[in-house]
Amino acid sequence: MNESDLPQISEPLTSEPLISERLSFESTSELLSSEPLRGLPSSTHDIPMAVRETLSPMPQVKHKPARLFWGLGSVGAIALLGIGLFFALRPQFSASTAATAGNAAPSATPPAPSPVNSGASVSASASPAAQMLNHFPYNEAPQRELTPITPNGEILMRKAAAAKFMEMQEAARAAGVSLVPISGFRSQEDQSHVFFDVKAQRGQDTTTRSEVSAPPGYSEHHTGYAVDIGDGDRSDLNLQTDFETDQAFKWLKENAGFYSFEMSFPKNNAQGVSYEPWHWRFVGDRNSLETFYRARSSVPPSAPAKAK
Ligand code: DAL
Ligand code: ZN
Repeated sequence: MNESDLPQISEPLTSEPLISERLSFESTSELLSSEPLRGLPSSTHDIPMAVRETLSPMPQVKHKPARLFWGLGSVGAIALLGIGLFFALRPQFSASTAATAGNAAPSATPPAPSPVNSGASVSASASPAAQMLNHFPYNEAPQRELTPITPNGEILMRKAAAAKFMEMQEAARAAGVSLVPISGFRSQEDQSHVFFDVKAQRGQDTTTRSEVSAPPGYSEHHTGYAVDIGDGDRSDLNLQTDFETDQAFKWLKENAGFYSFEMSFPKNNAQGVSYEPWHWRFVGDRNSLETFYRARSSVPPSAPAKAK
């Protein structure tokens, strides 16, 4: 199975409105405006004053300030009770929502974030220093941040990385080199296929599989900043270490830095992942830099993996 034969899968975000956003105080305002206190109805103007004072409308007028006081007091009490109940029930609401989503956690712990976020792409659902089989956790790039880097629209990257990749591709073309993207953004579901299905197909153990493929949730491809690059004139070298002998690789080594791309897994890398001369990542803005370097800065280097 080729890594590039993967569907682009989007995971729409849903957000349940907060209970506070659903609370409405319409009934309160209706109560406050329901009884205008602007004197008697005009029909009473025709009644002689002496008679008017004995009629029922007059005592009502006298008592209206008191009624207003008690009315407003009741409304205030109901509102305070409602607000109190809302704050008293809120932690239970959060916990039950998390439990429903399979993220049950003690109420003192903030709920686990969505796998998609708009900030740096180091996964916040695990400790920033956490590693899985030598790979770091990454969140999926938001769909709105992704844009195609191929004419058929099948391979996507983050906008900033995509623009620089295409600029680099154009410069290489001018130098007679054909840089072809093989794989860009991959969802966690895509990576599940790459990791588990290929592992099963090859009968590999987990450690061996993880030397060449990140487990789902731990691939740089989730970030939208990583791209596997091949030579359009040598597809036989796609995803092969022999790509290092190719003119496209030579061009990349000499020029990728001008476009803020770097190899993620050079020979004998400290992370302990197999040599991947085809896998490059964008580090040309603050978000991409933080995505790849924040977690690493607090992790001691692993024993380097042997180059293959
Ligand atoms: N091949 C790299 C390590 C990945 O799967 O992300
Ligand atoms: Zn890759």
